[in-house]
Amino acid sequence: MNHPDATQQPEPRDQEEETVHRALEGFYRDGKPPWDTGVTPPELVALTEGPRSLPPGRALELGCGTGTNALYLARHGWDVTAVDLIDRAVERAREKAAEAGMSLRLLHGDATRLDELDAPGPFDLFFDLSCYCGIPLHRRDAYAAGLTRRAAPGARLLMFGYGPEPLGNPTTEITSWAAGVTADELSTRFTGWDLLDVTPGTNAVPTFWFTLRRSTSATT
Ligand SMILES: C[S@@+](CC[C@H](N)C(=O)[O-])C[C@H]1O[C@@H](n2cnc3c(N)ncnc32)[C@H](O)[C@@H]1O
Repeated sequence: MNHPDATQQPEPRDQEEETVHRALEGFYRDGKPPWDTGVTPPELVALTEGPRSLPPGRALELGCGTGTNALYLARHGWDVTAVDLIDRAVERAREKAAEAGMSLRLLHGDATRLDELDAPGPFDLFFDLSCYCGIPLHRRDAYAAGLTRRAAPGARLLMFGYGPEPLGNPTTEITSWAAGVTADELSTRFTGWDLLDVTPGTNAVPTFWFTLRRSTSATT
């Protein structure tokens, strides 16, 4: 797939994005963030190894953190590109990949600005474990457009997200962190995709696993 804008100048972050960036940096600076469990969720294992698993192809992980699941996919034959906003997270992911002798493309960058990265696709699988639900609301159309442009026909998006509010609002300036993600929002925002499944997570607060599929006939 040819992306003439792949070399475009970085689009500056606005104030809300800067605040989110600082908050996320803080998690990685202070040591191991609470979400960095090193455990691959059974929902991704099922998609990769289960009886209805997908054949390995190209995968893009959004918000890969220190690379646990990107490495998991690569070990299972996927050609993996993974992106995270925070440089320390990507550095740690690269170290883990080197220690494991794995070759995958680990990119420091913004999932809502994929055109600034070397991640042209097309991809057969997108994986997002708690990244989208923390993205400022006004950047989510750009996220959806970036995936849509890079999706192979029939591509899957497997996403885990917090529902509205349970994240609370630990940083009062980050209003969108309380917004979470809903099935209605995804259906509206991901035009040219079908929402195949919504399965509640097992957390104490409302969480969901969403599966979307890019329409095979879509041209947008
Ligand atoms: C809750 S953490 C989960 C990390 C990883 N998926 C895991 O489960 O270990 C969310 C991740 O998304 C990243 N992130 C947030 N906004 C992002 C964006 N706009 N682009 C890329 N990564 C982003 C954060 O830096 C963080 O690593």
